[in-house]
Amino acid sequence: MNAEVDVRRISRRALIGVLPAALLTIRRVNAQTDTVTVYKDPTCGCCAKWVDLMRREGFAATVHESRDLASIKQKYNVPPNLQSCHTAIVNDQLIVEGHVPPADVKRVLKDKAAIGGLAVPGMPIGSPGMEVADVRPQAYDVIAFTRAGKTRVFASH
Ligand code: CU
Ligand code: CU
Repeated sequence: MNAEVDVRRISRRALIGVLPAALLTIRRVNAQTDTVTVYKDPTCGCCAKWVDLMRREGFAATVHESRDLASIKQKYNVPPNLQSCHTAIVNDQLIVEGHVPPADVKRVLKDKAAIGGLAVPGMPIGSPGMEVADVRPQAYDVIAFTRAGKTRVFASH
C-alpha cells in the first residue's frame, strides 16, 4: 500500500516538473509561427504556387479568393506602380505584393525592418511561383515601400 502511494506521489511530482516545460514549448512554437493572409483571384495559378512556397517555408497561410483585388490593393496602400497579381499580409502587418521570395520576407521579420511592405511588381519569369520550364529567368528587384509610399530596392535577384 505504502509503496503504491509513494509511486503515485513521485509520478505526480514528475508531472508537475514536466508541465511548465511543455507549456513553454507550446508558447514558443506559437510565437514562431508566422502567418500570411493572401488575397488572390480564384483563377490565378501562379498565386497558388507562391502560397505553396510560403507554406513550405513554414508560414501558416489563409487564402481569400477575390475578384476585386484593386480595392484590396487600395486598402493596403500598395503603390500603383508596384502592383502584381496577389496581395498578402504577413503577421497582420507587413504587406507583400506579388512574387516576393519567402527568404526576403523572413529577412524583414528577422531584422524587424521598419518598412510597410515588399513588392515584386509585375510577374517576372523565374521569381518564386513564376518559374517556367526552359525559359530563362528574368532579373528582378524586390522593392521595399513605406506606408507613406517611399520606395527603395530591398534585394536584387
Ligand atoms: Cu502571379
Ligand atoms: Cu499571385
